[in-house]
Amino acid sequence: MKKENSPAHEVLIVDDSPETVELIRRNLESVGYHVFAASNVQSAIKLLETINIDLLITDLKMPGESGLTLVRHVSENFKGVAILVITGFPSIQGAVESIKIGAEEYLVKSFTDEELFQAVKNALKKTSHKKKSGRELSPQTFGIVGASEGMVQVFDTITKARATQATVLIQGESGTGKELVARALHYGGNDSKAPFVPVNCGGIPDNLLESELFGYVKGAFTGANETRPGFFQTADKGTIFLDEISNTSLAMQAKLLRVLQEKEFYMVGSKKSLKVNLRVVAATNVDLMQLIKKGLFREDLYYRLNIITIDLPPLRERGPDILQLAEFFLNKYVKELGKSAMHFTPKASRALQGYAWPGNVRELQNLMHRLVILADDSTIDVPDLPESFRFSASQSGTLDRTLDDMVKGYIADVLAANQNNVSLAARVLGIDRKTLREKMKKA
Ligand SMILES: Nc1ncnc2c1ncn2[C@@H]1O[C@H](COP(=O)(O)OP(=O)(O)OP(=O)(O)O)[C@@H](O)[C@H]1O
Ligand SMILES: [Mg+2]
Repeated sequence: MKKENSPAHEVLIVDDSPETVELIRRNLESVGYHVFAASNVQSAIKLLETINIDLLITDLKMPGESGLTLVRHVSENFKGVAILVITGFPSIQGAVESIKIGAEEYLVKSFTDEELFQAVKNALKKTSHKKKSGRELSPQTFGIVGASEGMVQVFDTITKARATQATVLIQGESGTGKELVARALHYGGNDSKAPFVPVNCGGIPDNLLESELFGYVKGAFTGANETRPGFFQTADKGTIFLDEISNTSLAMQAKLLRVLQEKEFYMVGSKKSLKVNLRVVAATNVDLMQLIKKGLFREDLYYRLNIITIDLPPLRERGPDILQLAEFFLNKYVKELGKSAMHFTPKASRALQGYAWPGNVRELQNLMHRLVILADDSTIDVPDLPESFRFSASQSGTLDRTLDDMVKGYIADVLAANQNNVSLAARVLGIDRKTLREKMKKA
């Protein structure tokens, strides 16, 4: 067994595609994980006899034994090892199956680096519950960063909703933290062992969604060679998270309404109804009311879903949270990448606060990640930020600057945005190079 709190985790990747193995290996090694690899189940099982691992990442479809065999083997014989399953699109059912038999998380190909890191972290976090108790999360905020008025309201509603089994509808622009809130509703800082099953309704074609959600019986359609459970069965006694619920067809909405009303459903091809006991959390980044008006979303389903609603404010309306989040992510990546502490200049802080953040927290998180990777020194100034931040930086918020100061500041920003190339900057400013040089001398 490994030491507690050991920063380096040992990971075993099992996949027959050398490209996938290399991709994951490179990503994980760059942040300090130790990586082992095997190209099939047989050699993985052999390897497991000689090494101690914290995390297994396995593909399901491989020549020879299926990855499911490995998942079962590890979850039965190596308690405390986290399991992350990687699956191609056609075998999402396999992912559902693997969660049933002990996998913590699954990831659908092709995934981004961020999704990989998140899934690895989630999987490890879930098993660390099994090994140790006590977590760093603040019980009031569930590990969600923020103290603005809007977020305090959100924390308050999460606390109240957690005490019930009521259906929750989370509304907010893309990247505002809807999935984070859904997980907080489920885990809420406790060691919940019940399943949390996220379903991206927008990412699964409608004709597949029904069998993914409710499962199917053998012979239900061509290719249904065996009976398979769906996400609803997997989530029994836990939480099903229906993400991007607006992307479901009206026919699908009717079926969901039925589950919410009766707590029962039919597997595809079966006449026997099944009962489940779970909490439904749904999320949307579009206004469902607008869709209802256009006849694209069922009003009755809407009212079933929004027993409790949580409105996540866009980041630009969270005031002080912007800098708190920026510092939170900056420190996180500094630590992860083993760099020394970094900070923002006052002007850069202002630029961050004045920016509109169309991609919300996700955009801010990605920006901080990029800044830490690219940083040459410990100070982040406006020229280190993308060009779109120049404008918010020049809006310093005060109305006491002289026109000369404004011009000087603007020229400096345009030059910085153009790598100090005078010809380019002059073109942007609509003046010739000579005039620009004179203005620069005055500045
Ligand atoms: N308040 C917060 N504190 C810390 N991390 C946050 C916060 N809000 C969001 N994040 C992080 O930002 C990223 C995006 O959040 P999440 O995936 O929950 O957003 P979302 O609303 O579901 O987005 P989308 O609509 O695009 O699916 C995640 O990595 C999440 O951990
Ligand atoms: Mg989401």
